[in-house]
Amino acid sequence: MKSLALCCIALVSSAQTQAQEHVNGQLWMDTEGNHINAHGGNIIQYGDTYYWYGENRPYRGFTTEAGVGVYSSKDLKTWKNEGIALAVSEEAGHDIERGCIMERPKVLYNAKTNKFVMLFHLELKGRGYEAARVAFAVSDTPTGPFRFVRSTRVNANKWPFDMNKKAQKLAQQTNAAQWKDWWSAEWRKEVEKGMYLWRDMQGGQMSRDMTLYVDKDGKAYHITSSQENLTLLVSELTDDYLDFTGKYNMVAPGGQNEAPCIFQHEGTYWLICSGCTGWAPNEARMFSAPSIWGPWTQHPSPFVGVATGYRDMPANKTFGAQGTYIYEMNGKPIFMADIWNERHLSNSLHLWLPIDFDGQGVPVIRWVDKAF
Ligand code: GAL
Repeated sequence: MKSLALCCIALVSSAQTQAQEHVNGQLWMDTEGNHINAHGGNIIQYGDTYYWYGENRPYRGFTTEAGVGVYSSKDLKTWKNEGIALAVSEEAGHDIERGCIMERPKVLYNAKTNKFVMLFHLELKGRGYEAARVAFAVSDTPTGPFRFVRSTRVNANKWPFDMNKKAQKLAQQTNAAQWKDWWSAEWRKEVEKGMYLWRDMQGGQMSRDMTLYVDKDGKAYHITSSQENLTLLVSELTDDYLDFTGKYNMVAPGGQNEAPCIFQHEGTYWLICSGCTGWAPNEARMFSAPSIWGPWTQHPSPFVGVATGYRDMPANKTFGAQGTYIYEMNGKPIFMADIWNERHLSNSLHLWLPIDFDGQGVPVIRWVDKAF
């Protein structure tokens, strides 16, 4: 009996030792020895505990069968599976009916309301990626269960706050229905004029890949890939984080950026995105601005070198990954990304890399086996 107990202790402690070894480019185990199935998500700290939210993906197929998963940790290394924070609905026709697509969930704690608020990209069941909505869910506790609130397009009948009357008029002269062929110089001009902004003015702007950001003054922002993934929108959230105030702006119209990740360093806002190539990796893009409202200036990708030990994936492929969030650990920004495994999405790998700065204060990201 005694030897059985000792054997159990040895097994538990070896599982914990294993859980602490998170090497980039390898599977990351939770305390039960399963790969952490939380993709496209984010981390928050609440009290002395960290919570990691993310897409719980099936081994086969890409629709959402369970919901948004959550893990907890005291040290950002040993992660305990806390189950499904927001479950799919079994009700036919429900916005989050099983078989919908829930992507890129991000959770914030709202100190004013003492609630945990989750926003995520939602695609309705059986409609591919056409719905392009953002959804809201709320919970009294970090591990949930979260209650689904609603899903919506964004900023219906609102112009970006700094778009002047003349620019609004130009956008109103565009006609998206007329452009069947994309990518010509003429088409691009129309996009830059606001062709998709105008097309979706009444029904609301599309919202796909997204992140959330809370500024130092406590204001929260939703940053999303909109207008057929061509233009990013930065939108201010209400104080309870459960709605939009209507104030928003466009970033890099026509730039085709997605997977937005943002942080602030010494008064400069840095936005790191990917291009749009689905699950396949591409070269990251980076922008900086003196304010969340811009103006945004584009920089080269911050990634340098190769992923030594991980198929030597080059910097111009973001080491095979796509960003999901920048988590500031004791003031040190950590770039969190997914190395997507298209065939077995649940097994997509996690990649965490520290963000360094060059002599000019510009972010630089190199491959390291362990972020910390
Ligand atoms: C990527 C996007 C992912 C997912 C995927 C589906 O471009 O970043 O979140 O939507 O496409 O193909």
